[in-house]
Amino acid sequence: MTSEADPLTLVLVGPMAAGKTSVGRRVARRLRVPFIDTDKRIVAQHGPIAEIFAEQGEPRFRELERAAVATALADGGVVSLGGGAVTDSGTRELLRQHPVVFLTVSAEAVADRIRGGNRPLLKGEDPLERWTRILEERRGWYEEVAAVTFDTSRRPMQRIADEIVAWRREQG
Ligand code: S3P
Repeated sequence: MTSEADPLTLVLVGPMAAGKTSVGRRVARRLRVPFIDTDKRIVAQHGPIAEIFAEQGEPRFRELERAAVATALADGGVVSLGGGAVTDSGTRELLRQHPVVFLTVSAEAVADRIRGGNRPLLKGEDPLERWTRILEERRGWYEEVAAVTFDTSRRPMQRIADEIVAWRREQG
């Protein structure tokens, strides 16, 4: 499971608004490695995610995402993926040789976090119902790729980050 090329690489997966970016940033700081957010890289290279979905469709977004994940893993560090990255079998394959952490969050805790956002898959009526349905569709994939799970619903992001750092160091 551990990457031989970069022993401190760590990947964060989980549903939208689970805290992948906030936790990932803190974990990277503690481990003294770079932090990479693959969504940010896609935006920098190809423009806003909502536009990619609207103009080119989700399958094209998943292709761009797979390429961004491959590059990020090769660069090394703490890598935070978009919530739907695990839906792509090529991306799941890329994750096989890396320590992957699944961040979970309850629907109650996520309600405030998704309000007023610009996530294309949550557009329309009842974003929380959509969020819940999407999570259930993907849960099996998160569990398949991840070695460990942390819940971000109640505790401060820094505490969760510290626990992930401790877990990562135990892995050697
Ligand atoms: C998506 C999650 C988003 C982003 C895109 C699609 C998804 O990232 O990649 O809007 O399919 O769950 P976050 O998980 O960071 O919101």
